[in-house]
Amino acid sequence: MGKINIAVDGFSSCGKSTIAKGLARELGYTYIDSGAMYRAVALFAYRKGWITDTEIDDAALQMHISEIDISFKTNSEGQQETYLNGENVEKEIRSLEIGNGASRVSALGFVRRELVRQQQAMGKKKGVVMDGRDIGTVVFPDAEFKIFLTASPEVRAQRRYEELQAKGNPVTYEDTLANVLERDERDTTRIESPLRKATDAIELDNSHITITEQLQWAMDMFNKIT
Ligand code: C5P
Repeated sequence: MGKINIAVDGFSSCGKSTIAKGLARELGYTYIDSGAMYRAVALFAYRKGWITDTEIDDAALQMHISEIDISFKTNSEGQQETYLNGENVEKEIRSLEIGNGASRVSALGFVRRELVRQQQAMGKKKGVVMDGRDIGTVVFPDAEFKIFLTASPEVRAQRRYEELQAKGNPVTYEDTLANVLERDERDTTRIESPLRKATDAIELDNSHITITEQLQWAMDMFNKIT
């Protein structure tokens, strides 16, 4: 079998990128972080003043959506970084505020249609591991291998909290948990492509297993499928 596309979906802070990056590394595939694309759109809208605590100026965002160019480049340490209109925004898009904004702009149909179009183009030649919320259901419904990751909200909040702390982001565990729960609610109840498990996805609850065990599980599954 030639190269395939692999979809990794699940709730926020579930470790999707860890397993997706690990698979891409093992297989020599390209990893694509679809959430970073929604985050970049949110950052663009924040900078323009189109997102406030209570509202989004979706008419302005829609009018200017074609001005948003998102790309990925690998840095000297082999880490993928996100670029918005040629500017490296990797650090800026990882804040809780932008994560929240991303979850809000991702509920807009015109944002999803534009990003899904770009994501499908990236997967045309296969050999892509993409993580997100709708990869197995909407972006690559024909993907040969689909993983749906879950973990308890408390475990996810603790992981995200440690990650943000390590990056010098001054947050509390309580705020991080509230953010996780708020995003879960929004991601699963939105009208446009709500987060759900594709019927042919394989579910893995990684609350209590190590990263090495997860990757081993995913490689075993991959080898069974291909
Ligand atoms: O995965 P990450 O937390 O970086 O994604 C940020 C937000 O973008 C999510 O909360 C979700 O609302 C949205 N998203 C999405 N569809 C994707 C990827 C992310 O709606 N494929």
